[in-house]
Amino acid sequence: MDISVAVLDPAVDAPCSALADRFICGGLDDPRAIARLVGCSQVTTYEIEHIDAAALQQLQCEGHRLVPDPRVLAVVQDKLEQRQLFARAGLPGPRFSGCTPADEAAPADFGFPCVQKARRGGYDGRGVVILRGISDQRIDRPSLLEQYVSIKRELAVLVVRAADGGMVSYQPAEMKFDPYSNICTHVIAPADLEPGIRAEAVRIAEAAVEALGGVGVHGVELFQTRDGRVLLNEVAPRPHNSGHYTIEACVTSQFEQHLRAVLGLPPGAVETLAAGVMVNLLGAPGFSGRTVVEGVRGALALPGVALHIYGKRHCVAGRKMGHLTAVAAGADAAMQHAQSAAASLVIRGENRVA
Ligand SMILES: Nc1ncnc2c1ncn2[C@@H]1O[C@H](COP(=O)(O)OP(=O)(O)OP(=O)(O)O)[C@@H](O)[C@H]1O
Ligand SMILES: [Mg+2]
Repeated sequence: MDISVAVLDPAVDAPCSALADRFICGGLDDPRAIARLVGCSQVTTYEIEHIDAAALQQLQCEGHRLVPDPRVLAVVQDKLEQRQLFARAGLPGPRFSGCTPADEAAPADFGFPCVQKARRGGYDGRGVVILRGISDQRIDRPSLLEQYVSIKRELAVLVVRAADGGMVSYQPAEMKFDPYSNICTHVIAPADLEPGIRAEAVRIAEAAVEALGGVGVHGVELFQTRDGRVLLNEVAPRPHNSGHYTIEACVTSQFEQHLRAVLGLPPGAVETLAAGVMVNLLGAPGFSGRTVVEGVRGALALPGVALHIYGKRHCVAGRKMGHLTAVAAGADAAMQHAQSAAASLVIRGENRVA
């Protein structure tokens, strides 16, 4: 679309540095680096939550255009504030309460099993623990306690909201998680849902984005419970891991949608062209160091498989190093090809670690 892009990233060899028209190396918590990025841009947006929101708000006051409003970031950066906002908007979610490290009785008072989440700084399941009893290891930071939900499926709805408040949503996708690390491993799109659940997921997702007042793409994470309800988990006001499949499987990718929305252009069509299964390619356990990729030929030989390797130079176990998407006429075939492709690929560090 001939849009010139400047990017800020803390790593000097960040993957985006080779792609952006202008690359600024600096911390996302460094007000001066943020000011350099915003100062050279007509409009600034984000694809990560952990940025100094006060610095962004200051720049907004000085007249710079930031989309979405930095206040949206400030809310989602704090899982407790986010839950409180959604509760005020009447959206269904697990019972929750705030918790400080000093308050040792809080989990027992709240009731086991419960889920403890760090209020700030968590991602990819880091900063989330399930507490089943008083002896379980807790998070030693200001946190949030949530009722442990008996989950049938984890769903994600990508909601695109324009500056004028208009919204379009992709069909809900199902996210599969590793039960130990809580990291998303697979996304199946569209999710195989009863029509009532599908409509409820989209309704809640759009209401959450409305309550937040975001502009751009939002990844809205939801739980379908075993007793047939849909509960809101959290909202990421940016392109989301659950939406990577849209590059191959939908008319408009989530990345283009985000650009369109932040630039004030009309949204693209959200229709699905094919069933898609996305697999996150994580750093292999037992290795760390310079990134080594093996098995590309075998993965690409499978029908409908597209491979995205991010070009992160350093690999540690569990790091998101890329993803692949398989598209097919049906979800079963897409899953089969995605699984085979993922099984043929290894992304690892060059050194074996104990
Ligand atoms: N209340 C809950 N009951 C049961 N499981 C939960 C609950 N909250 C979170 N989980 C599990 O933990 C995962 C991570 O939680 P959450 O999305 O809040 O954290 P996160 O670190 O921000 O994750 P990510 O960055 O992957 O989105 C969820 O996707 C779900 O599998
Ligand atoms: Mg999450």
